[in-house]
Amino acid sequence: MTEISPTGSPPPGNPPELPINLLEYQPLAARRLSKMAYDYYASGATDELTLRDNRAAFARRKIRFRVLAGVGQRSSRGEVLGAPFEFPVLIAPMAFQGLADADAELATARAAGAAGTVMILSTLSNVALEEVVAAGPAPVWFQLYVYKDREATAALVRRAEAAGCQALVLTVDAPLLGRRERDVRNRFHLPDGLQAKNLHAAGYGQLAPVASDSGLAAYVGSLLDPNLSWEDLTWLRSITKLPVLVKGVVRGDDAERALSAGAAGIVVSNHGGRQLDTSVATLDCLEEVASAVAGQVPVLLDGGVRRGTDVLKALALGAQAVLLGRPILWGLGSRGQAGVEHVLELLKAEFDQALALSGCSSLAEVTRDLIA
Ligand code: FNR
Ligand code: LAC
Repeated sequence: MTEISPTGSPPPGNPPELPINLLEYQPLAARRLSKMAYDYYASGATDELTLRDNRAAFARRKIRFRVLAGVGQRSSRGEVLGAPFEFPVLIAPMAFQGLADADAELATARAAGAAGTVMILSTLSNVALEEVVAAGPAPVWFQLYVYKDREATAALVRRAEAAGCQALVLTVDAPLLGRRERDVRNRFHLPDGLQAKNLHAAGYGQLAPVASDSGLAAYVGSLLDPNLSWEDLTWLRSITKLPVLVKGVVRGDDAERALSAGAAGIVVSNHGGRQLDTSVATLDCLEEVASAVAGQVPVLLDGGVRRGTDVLKALALGAQAVLLGRPILWGLGSRGQAGVEHVLELLKAEFDQALALSGCSSLAEVTRDLIA
């Protein structure tokens, strides 16, 4: 199985028994990460039903493949809001990547560059946003959490713009943090040496243990603004030239409100099942949102994307691209930057195969009729 070099040892950078798909990266990461880190990354809210249903929704949909379509030449290239991609998978914003690897968000950004895709950087990164953008060449979009302290929030926006982030992604499904019971049990906090680096200057960089709760839930509860409303999207647009996408929409009427307030894109997301448990699976509400948006701005989707066919289904049902979440962390936690690159390569190859076998040569040919 493993390729053996003439000297009898596996070639460098190609450890034996590399995972052959995204799912296999999770147990590999589980062996490397602390329990607190693994549980934080893996968990969903309360019973984790939505976490599982995001995956199950992909399994429920079946592909009506086309035949004899001449698929010898294929391209999975495209672009979203001016950012080109090699294949329609962007990296979802995920907090605290320093729990997975010493290079943290820098490794993820470099892997995004190598794979030819966009990295969305969380407000709650362990590396300052300026350093992540400088790690280049990937386009970086900045995911924004709005603090009660609006001056601190505006300062983040100014920094993201000055550093060269190309879009803002306003997360709207987290007025407070979902109850992740594993984090409550573990008293989740950042170990010594790790901080929410972007908030250091504002004095909100520490995430300390608290009694009987997740330290992150306490942090979010005390510092983020639960009063956020559609007017705040208008406010955000007034203080930045960057396009603002809205992440965490699962209804057509909310998508229409976002468009009225000037959103440049919609991310259909339930936060990977980490916020409101038993909320609708993202693939199940994609068509409703896409039909409300009616092509006016790009629609993206995340939650449970693990296979090339998942990407194909999301595109056929109205998404321009998808965001990939946890498998990035499993790659990072097992093998650092090389792991993230490999995760993206595996998914790209699976997507290319899904294109070919469904009779498509380009993204434009991935249309609604492919889904039963
Ligand atoms: C997230 N997600 C997230 N979203 C966001 O807007 N800001 C953030 O800081 C984070 N942080 C975060 C941390 C971890 C550990 C996870 C797993 C997720 C949600 C993320 O962007 C995305 O919506 C989901 O992860 C997508 O689902 P999958 O691919 O993980 O199933
Ligand atoms: C999470 C937050 C930080 O899901 O978005 O953990």
